[in-house]
Amino acid sequence: MRMIDIIERKRDGFELTKEEIDFAISGYTNGDIPDYQMSAFAMAIYFKDMTKDERIHLTKAMVESGDQVDLSAIAGIKVDKHSTGGVGDTTTLILAPLVASVGVPIAKMSGRGLGHTGGTVDKLESIKGFQVELDGTTFTELVNKNKIAVVGQSGNLTPADKKLYGLRDVTATVDSIPLIASSIMSKKIASGADAIVLDVKTGSGAFMKDLDGAKELAHAMVQIGNGAGRETIAVISDMNQPLGFAVGNALEVKEAIDTLKGNGPEDLAELCLTLGSRMVYLGKKADSIEEARAMLEEAIQSGKALETFKTFISAQGGDASVIDEPSKLPTASFTFEVEAKEDGYVSEITADEIGIAASMLGAGRLTKESEIDLAVGLVLNKKIGDKVKKGDSLVTIHSNREEVSEVVEKIHHAYNTSETKVEAHSLIYDVIY
Ligand code: URA
Ligand code: CA
Repeated sequence: MRMIDIIERKRDGFELTKEEIDFAISGYTNGDIPDYQMSAFAMAIYFKDMTKDERIHLTKAMVESGDQVDLSAIAGIKVDKHSTGGVGDTTTLILAPLVASVGVPIAKMSGRGLGHTGGTVDKLESIKGFQVELDGTTFTELVNKNKIAVVGQSGNLTPADKKLYGLRDVTATVDSIPLIASSIMSKKIASGADAIVLDVKTGSGAFMKDLDGAKELAHAMVQIGNGAGRETIAVISDMNQPLGFAVGNALEVKEAIDTLKGNGPEDLAELCLTLGSRMVYLGKKADSIEEARAMLEEAIQSGKALETFKTFISAQGGDASVIDEPSKLPTASFTFEVEAKEDGYVSEITADEIGIAASMLGAGRLTKESEIDLAVGLVLNKKIGDKVKKGDSLVTIHSNREEVSEVVEKIHHAYNTSETKVEAHSLIYDVIY
C-alpha cells in the first residue's frame, strides 16, 4: 500500500477501506508517513468529507494508536460525559457526584488543559488536600466502593490525534466535521467509557458558532460512538453567554456545591439535569429519561448527591468540610463591582470576552507551564434578559491585585444592553440519539 494512492483516492471522492485508513494513521503515528502527505490527506478529507464507515474506521485507528484505559474491573456500565467547551462550565463537578449518587459508576479521567479557567482537576485541587494522582488499583477500588473517582490524565492516549491535531492547526484543516468528530470521539473511546453523553455547545462562546454546525457535529459524533459500540447521546446547549454565574476555579467549586444543595443558578442546574438524566438512562439505572430525571431531583432534595460529593472528596484526601463551610476555599484578597453605565436590559454577554477577563486575573493557563490562581475569577450578577439600572453591579471581580482597570474594560465590552426587553436564549436546542 502507498500513501500517495490513498490521498489520490480520497481526493477523487472514493470511499476508503478500513485497511487504507489504518495504514495512513498507523504510518503517520510511527513516523513512516511524513507531515506533508498527512497534510494533503487532511485537506482531501476537508473537501471530500468521509462516509459513516470511514469516520468510524478513522476514529478506531486513532484509538488503537496508543494506550486504552481498561475499566473492566469496575462493576456496571461506565458512562462518561464530554463538553465541546464553553466559559464557566462547571457541569462535570456537579454531574459526577450527582449521577454517582444514584448508582452510575463515574470513573473519570480529567485534564488540566489550557483555557479561561483550569480544568476539572485544577478546580478539585482548590479543595485542600485533594489528590488527583491515583494508581490504577486505588482508582478502581474507589469507583467500586463509592461509585466515583477522578484521576488526572496519564498514559499515552491517542497519539495519532495529538500529532494530527497539531498538523491540522497549521494547515487550515481544523474546521472539518469528520476530523473534529473523530478527534473528540477517539479520546473518549480510548478513556474506556461504555457509554457517552456529549454536551455540544453552540453560540458566540462555543467552538461551533451556529446551530446547524453544532447539529451536524453532534450527529457525526453520535454515529461514531454508536458505530464503535459505545451508546452515545448528544445534547446541544447554548453558549451565547457563560453558564451559571461563576467563572474561576474555587468560585466554580462553590457554585457546584450550591447547585448540589439545590440553590444553584437555574441554567446550570437545568443543564446538569438534562445531561445527567441521559447518563443515568445510558447507565441503565432508569427505564426512561423522565424516571432518571426524577431520581436526580430526589438525590438533590434528599441531600444524597451532596453526601456523595463529601464521600468523594474525603476518599481522595480532600477536606470535605468545605461543603458546609465554602469560606474555607481559596479566597481572593479584593473584590470589585463592575457597574452598569446605563439603564436597560442585558442583550449580550460575549462569553469569550468574559473568559479572557477571568484569565487576565490569573484564573486560566496561557501555557502548559503557567501557574493558575485558584481564588480569582468573576461572578456574573446579571445575565441576558435581566433588567439593569445605571450603577447596578453587572459582575463582581475577585482579584489578588488591586489594579483591574483592563479587566473592567473587558467586561464592559462583553456586556451589551438594549432599551427594550430582551428574551433569554433557549438553553437546550436539541437532543440527538
Ligand atoms: N477538539 C478536539 O478535541 N478536536 C478537534 O478536532 C476539535 C476540537
Ligand atoms: Ca459557572
